[in-house]
Amino acid sequence: MLRAEGLKTSYGNIRALKGVDLEVPSGSIVTILGVNGAGKTTLLKTVAGLLKPRAGKIFFLDEDISRFPPHKVVQRGIALVPEGRAILAKMTVLENLEMGAYQRRDGQVRGDIEKEMARFPWMKERQGQPGGSLSGGEQQMLAISRALLSRPKLLLLDEPSLGLAPLVVNEIFRIIRRINQDGTTVLLVEQNVKQALKIAHYGYVLETGKIVLSGETGELLENPKIRESFLGQKS
Ligand SMILES: Nc1ncnc2c1ncn2[C@@H]1O[C@H](COP(=O)(O)OP(=O)(O)OP(=O)(O)O)[C@@H](O)[C@H]1O
Ligand SMILES: [Mg+2]
Repeated sequence: MLRAEGLKTSYGNIRALKGVDLEVPSGSIVTILGVNGAGKTTLLKTVAGLLKPRAGKIFFLDEDISRFPPHKVVQRGIALVPEGRAILAKMTVLENLEMGAYQRRDGQVRGDIEKEMARFPWMKERQGQPGGSLSGGEQQMLAISRALLSRPKLLLLDEPSLGLAPLVVNEIFRIIRRINQDGTTVLLVEQNVKQALKIAHYGYVLETGKIVLSGETGELLENPKIRESFLGQKS
């Protein structure tokens, strides 16, 4: 569904991606692992059109989207849940949701908002409250719902569990699995490696802008490097 080839992205003369090849099959959950500064956010932002690659190509459903502006990437069916959630604190929960659907002209936005409120019942009761009044976990759920309101085929998630309490983390992972089972392909960046490898089908390890390891998650869980570097297990 998504394929990146030789992707290079820089900030001035800081080279954050140094030729990344990546494939996300339709229907799958693919996870990207890597320590702080590895380039995970840069990769998702490049796919989402927020950063322009210096070299390389991105294909989505066989179309070259490498040079698309963000709104066109969304139109094609890719939505980003950004690092830090980016909920608009002064806008209400409902307004935050509506933002996700701003490009849609079909008559089904109301119904989709109702569906998100059924997924997260607290959302219905609190739809008139400002986004800033929500807890971290609620803001993450709202950010996910907002992204789903563009009806994406591919959902990009940047560290959705970051800073959340363990029970809430479990809930976020359950939600991601459910979204995938309902037919949305997922590209997941996570530092919660254990849980990410459990729900994902394929994984890639990014190290200073390069993919150094990839494979089915079952194999990655057995890999000595993964066990040592990410799971804190001596082999
Ligand atoms: N706006 C920016 N300007 C300059 N350099 C940047 C910028 N954003 C990121 N970088 C650099 O690019 C590299 C990759 O950063 P990126 O944010 O993609 O990493 P990450 O894997 O998402 O890290 P984290 O786990 O901390 O979120 C790092 O060396 C970082 O310092
Ligand atoms: Mg990041």
